[in-house]
Amino acid sequence: MRLDLTPEQQMIQATAREFADSQIRPIAAEIDREARFPHETVKRMGELGFMGITIPEAWGGSGADTVSYVVALEEIARACASHAVIMSVNNSLYGAPLAQYGTDAQCQRFLRPVASGHAQGCFALTEPQAGSDATNQATLAVLDGEDYVVNGRKRFITTGREAAFALVFCQTDRAKGHRGISAFVIEKGTRGFTVAKTEDKLGIRASDTAELVFDDCRVPRANRLGEEGQGFKIAMSAIDAGRIGIAAQALGIAAGAYERSVAYARDRKAFGVPIGEHQMVQWMLADMAVAIDGARLLTLRAAFLKDAGRPYATAAAMAKLFAAETAMKVTTDAIQVHGGYGFIKEYEVERAFRDAKITQLYEGTSQIQKLVIGRDLLRGGHDRA
Ligand code: CAA
Repeated sequence: MRLDLTPEQQMIQATAREFADSQIRPIAAEIDREARFPHETVKRMGELGFMGITIPEAWGGSGADTVSYVVALEEIARACASHAVIMSVNNSLYGAPLAQYGTDAQCQRFLRPVASGHAQGCFALTEPQAGSDATNQATLAVLDGEDYVVNGRKRFITTGREAAFALVFCQTDRAKGHRGISAFVIEKGTRGFTVAKTEDKLGIRASDTAELVFDDCRVPRANRLGEEGQGFKIAMSAIDAGRIGIAAQALGIAAGAYERSVAYARDRKAFGVPIGEHQMVQWMLADMAVAIDGARLLTLRAAFLKDAGRPYATAAAMAKLFAAETAMKVTTDAIQVHGGYGFIKEYEVERAFRDAKITQLYEGTSQIQKLVIGRDLLRGGHDRA
């Protein structure tokens, strides 16, 4: 695995950093406070090629590699975790399975607008009773002539309200359990498809998290992605890659909070000296720096393995687990370094702390990552570089 970024990866990183600092960071506190989806900056991210950064150029994406995706996401997340998850879901959970399993006609219609950033896609797997236990799908799609009739509800769907297209997982043959799950693209505006509510959240408040309801919703057979019964594999392989994106998001949240802590430790004086001169503050900063470097290396390794066409699911779970735990620990200590000033909104670490929490929950909780890693280790199939 190479540690140096290529000139192209460096250019993408610099573009993302400049954009995040100049366009996203100035609005991050306001959109968090107002729980407002950042249409203008997401549109601009589309123009810069970030909303389809990993999607093939043939379908309007940027065709960049996973390492580029990771370094760009880290930069975006440093400024605002909501923008990062919007970008991550569009690429990993919606765009990538479309590019991999879609027919040319499906990609033309359902992927091109999303890859070019003109519209967003979302990934609808989770249901009220199917979170970690994702095989426990209840949404049903029954073939009737040339349409499937879909009934059910999906919960906690990132970008669910804003997305023009939803990749929805449904049972087409209940008797077969997870082998009877199929994937469909359902367009916003289809009769019987409604957004029931948007959640009021602790963190990533500028990204919308919605409940989607399907009530006798007729979906053309041509909207089925892959074969009947292939849906759960499609979902799991999308999430494997998605975990690299969430690792990068967690890494960016941690890195942003760490940078603010170092700056504060240089400026803030206590007992007559900058607080950074006190050993207990130095220790916290040192622990943060080591954990962030570890998270970055694990995340880049998972990205490298994916780019090399090698197995990466366990490496992605390791990266996501470690980066999420790091984000929570680093943002907790960042507030500690800031003292009472960390507990108010002015210094941004309070938002980072709230945003960090979701990285331990979505795309598989930290406990699910340990389950995935543990099972793979016992099978002797660890995909380490
Ligand atoms: N790739 C391909 N197939 C996979 C797979 C993978 N990574 N992991 C499992 N499978 C297949 C298995 O091979 C098996 O298929 P067969 O029986 O045909 O061989 C099938 O899936 C079921 O696997 P298990 O028997 O291991 O099922 P399980 O119920 O014991 O465990 C799980 C499955 C690992 C817990 C899985 O349900 C899981 O990852 N849960 C977490 C769900 C999750 O991450 N949800 C995220 C929602 S999206 C989101 O969060 C987006 C957002 O908001 C940003």
